[in-house]
Order: sequence, then structure tokens, then C-alpha cells
Amino acid sequence: MIIAIDGPAGSGKSTIADLLAERFGYSKLDTGAMYRTVAYVSSARGVDLDDEESVVDVARALDIAFDDAGDAPRVLADGADVTREIRTPATDRIVSKVSAYPGVRRALLACQRAFAVGRDVVAEGRDIGTVVFPDAGLKVFLTADPAVRARRRVLQRHPGAAADDPALAAEIESTLADLVRRDRLDASRAEAPLRAADDAVHIDSTSHTVDEIVDMIASLAEDRR
Ligand code: DC
Repeated sequence: MIIAIDGPAGSGKSTIADLLAERFGYSKLDTGAMYRTVAYVSSARGVDLDDEESVVDVARALDIAFDDAGDAPRVLADGADVTREIRTPATDRIVSKVSAYPGVRRALLACQRAFAVGRDVVAEGRDIGTVVFPDAGLKVFLTADPAVRARRRVLQRHPGAAADDPALAAEIESTLADLVRRDRLDASRAEAPLRAADDAVHIDSTSHTVDEIVDMIASLAEDRR
């Protein structure tokens, strides 16, 4: 079965998809990591990000792989470890531009569908239920209050920090501004915009713990398996 989880930046999709995949023994497909990898590699190679054709060439030629063998999962681009680089604020700032290019989306769509051939998958992104796997057995659209999403994202970058640590206030504010900007870009692009599928179950995670959300989605999935 395919479980599709879509939603805006920082809504908790990745953490929740990881836990669901672990619980059911499914593979996890992080499509945001793929767009991030194309953005990061294009920029690192000095490609002009306004030059759509050149960015599409990078996306078509790039071999993106997920290595789950070690302690922490890694993302590889043509064999090089880019796990950290694709999560920096610098990559956050450029990824929406790159992911709006139709040729980039076409190149990654083929890889995403190939990944799921013959296996059970928890896939997360923006267009999983609408475009990538429209026949997914379960579709979830996960949202949360933007301020809560920004705080969660920053705390992920500073494990162990207190949520009300004043040293994090400025970072939370700039992360919030970036999330809101990215949501607007992702939802307004012409090709495969951020949108809930008509048959998606909407879940607002603002006032729930991760475990509560995982339990909710797991029980929906059990009903449909
Ligand atoms: O989920 P994330 O924040 O890692 O995603 C990074 C960006 O990639 C996000 O701003 C939009 C884009 N994206 C997309 O366009 N389609 C997807 N299926 C997944 C991510």
C-alpha cells in the first residue's frame, strides 16, 4: 500500500512519515529531499538558478539515492553525501524556485514512481496524493499553525534547546517568514501546486503530539489495508 502525506513546510510530515514507515515496515520516500538535492547541487555547481534549462539538465542527470543502512539515513547525490547541505537555510531559500520548474518535476516524478514499484511506501511531499500517487491507499493532508511549524523546525536544528530559549527567537522569526513565503510559492505555482487531494483526510497537528498523529494515521491505514 502507499500512504501519501502532503502538507506545507514544517507540518511534521517527515518525522511522522519516518515513524509510520518504521511501524509498518514500509519504505519512506522523502520527495522534498529530492527537490532540495537538485537545488543544492545546481547551486554548488554554479548553475544560474534562473536558467530553467540548466537546472532541468542537472535534475535529469543526477542520481539521487537514499542510504538507510547506517545509524542515520543519508541522502546521496551522484554518490556524495549531501544530507546536511540540503537542510540549510540557504537551501530553504532556493528550493521553491527550483521545484516550480516543470522539467525538474517531470524528472523527479519518474524517479518517485520507480521507487515505489513492488513495495509498500510512506511518501511525503506536496503533490503525492494529487500527482505522484493519485491511487494511494491512504492520503493525508497535514497542517499546523505557521508559528508552531517554525518553532518545531528551529528546535529540530537545535536538539535539546528549550522552546522558549530567547537565543532562538530571531531564528524562529526568520524561519517563520521563510515558511510563509515558501508555502505561498509552493501553493501558487502552475505545476503540481501544494494542494490537498479531494479524497485526503485533513489532520491539523497544532495541538497534538507526534505520537498522537502517528496513531491517528496508523489506525486509518489499518482500516484500509
Ligand atoms: O518538504 P520539504 O520542506 O523538504 O520540501 C522542500 C521543497 O520542495 C518545498 O518548498 C517544495 C518542494 N516540494 C515539492 O514541490 N513537491 C514535493 N512533492 C515535495 C517538496
